[in-house]
Amino acid sequence: MVRKLLAPLEVDGHHLPAGATAAPSSILLHVNPALYPEPHAFRPERWLDRKPGTYEWIPFGGGIRRCLGATLAMAEQRVVLDAVARRTDLVADDPEPERAVHRNVTMIPSRGARVIVRARD
Ligand code: HEM
Repeated sequence: MVRKLLAPLEVDGHHLPAGATAAPSSILLHVNPALYPEPHAFRPERWLDRKPGTYEWIPFGGGIRRCLGATLAMAEQRVVLDAVARRTDLVADDPEPERAVHRNVTMIPSRGARVIVRARD
């Protein structure tokens, strides 16, 4: 998502010259309370009522170089998560929330999202 500017750009009063390197911060965007009230609360049902706008949720980047595999990746996730959720009950091994930490270019849960898996009968 990193871009080198071919022309000057003004963003929210900040003047960026041609040649500058610019990148959106998905982590800052995704915890913006103006878009997501109580952004750190685990509340997946917040997605039930509305779909996020194009530039409110950018795990796949955006614009002309947006991820080519986004649709495939989302379809794969639906299949895998559906299969796991139907066959197992997942319980966090520690109820305390985990921090997000950097790993390469991504963010991951600091304790590795460890779960206890209980197979369904
Ligand atoms: C959860 C899974 C995935 C995530 C989070 C992800 C995320 C991203 C991001 C952030 C970019 C950079 C977009 C930008 O510069 O604006 C990207 C580019 C790209 N992704 Fe993915 N991706 C995923 C899966 C996939 C899959 C499954 C494929 C192929 C089957 C794929 C193929 C590509 C390609 C070819 C680009 C380069 C597009 C370009 O530069 O024009 N990605 N992806």
